[in-house]
Amino acid sequence: MACLSAIIKWVLPILVALYGVYYWQFIASRRYFTSDVVLDGKTVIVTGANSGIGRVTALDLAKRGARVILACRNLQKAEDVAKDIKSSTGNSEVVVRHLDLSSLQSVREFAQQIIETEDRLDILINNAGVAAAAMKAGAVTKDNFDFVFGTNHFGHFLLTNLLLDLLKKSALKRVVTVSSLAHERAPQPNMTREDPSVANFLYPHLENYPLSKLANVLFARELARREKASGLISTSLHPGAIFTPIWKTIVDHRSPIRGVMYYMFSPLMWMLFIDETAGAQTTLHCALDESVAEFSGKYFDNCAEYEPSTFAQDDELAKELWTVSCEATGLKC
Ligand SMILES: NC(=O)c1ccc[n+]([C@@H]2O[C@H](COP(=O)([O-])OP(=O)(O)OC[C@H]3O[C@@H](n4cnc5c(N)ncnc54)[C@H](OP(=O)(O)O)[C@@H]3O)[C@@H](O)[C@H]2O)c1
Repeated sequence: MACLSAIIKWVLPILVALYGVYYWQFIASRRYFTSDVVLDGKTVIVTGANSGIGRVTALDLAKRGARVILACRNLQKAEDVAKDIKSSTGNSEVVVRHLDLSSLQSVREFAQQIIETEDRLDILINNAGVAAAAMKAGAVTKDNFDFVFGTNHFGHFLLTNLLLDLLKKSALKRVVTVSSLAHERAPQPNMTREDPSVANFLYPHLENYPLSKLANVLFARELARREKASGLISTSLHPGAIFTPIWKTIVDHRSPIRGVMYYMFSPLMWMLFIDETAGAQTTLHCALDESVAEFSGKYFDNCAEYEPSTFAQDDELAKELWTVSCEATGLKC
């Protein structure tokens, strides 16, 4: 009894005070993209728009009047989201197209369909992503790349390059690539070509998620450098730690009782992470804010430019990665 009253008297207030500081520092301090910019007549693609921050990003863009293409691998989930977005925004220009970023053939088919059916593309949001923990060790894509790196980087690399001409013809010309703070944990990428198998020579270890996110930052940087003359704006970003389904795969994977751990940790994640709306704000800022035009190639966090890791600022590494990615995806560049 004495123990219980001590907890109520001392431990609980301390925990509440600590949480208050945490909340103030990491959650309440999140910035929101409040501009009322309108996107009537503009077309946007969001990859992985059926879930998490991709869904909220698509919803916001649809509210602004854009034609929004949800590029997703799960058509049923995507159709449900499209229906919700249409009914809540009144925007009927929300369409679903199939895209599986873990297959170069699917990326090519998707891009071909877009080029044949769309007369413009103003903004491409490379949002989709998979977490390493969700994959079995050694999992590979249909093209025999490490699954996480192949999906998160090679898929978006090929997609962006195939859509580049259409993007450059448009008014806004923006490519936004959703990376992660996890890129800072990436070890030095091994770009040697000792092993000609692309599946192995970049990332033969478990650090594939941080490496894929480092590749996202380097890709955005090199794209900006290459496209400076065309006026295309390319940025990358960390969206924050957000309570989205991606954590289900991570938490469950580490658990001996799959399916249960996620629900046990959910209240904690709900308290400590930001929500999906807050998590979509830096993407919207990079896609729509006028000031970002001066920061092409840069990395953002919390709606502001942010310094990425040392590797992520290495222009030679960015160029090497570009060459390796062209070889891997069969692009002539
Ligand atoms: N949540 C965080 O704390 C956090 C932190 C840093 C960075 N990020 C990044 O934010 C982005 C969005 O993640 P999220 O948190 O919103 O997670 P999410 O809810 O799991 O969304 C990920 C999306 O990517 C899609 N996707 C996965 N593999 C795909 C493939 N092969 N082809 C096409 N689409 C595919 C998923 O489709 P399915 O629904 O079919 O699986 C889903 O729509 C990711 O790039 C992630 O790395 C998230």
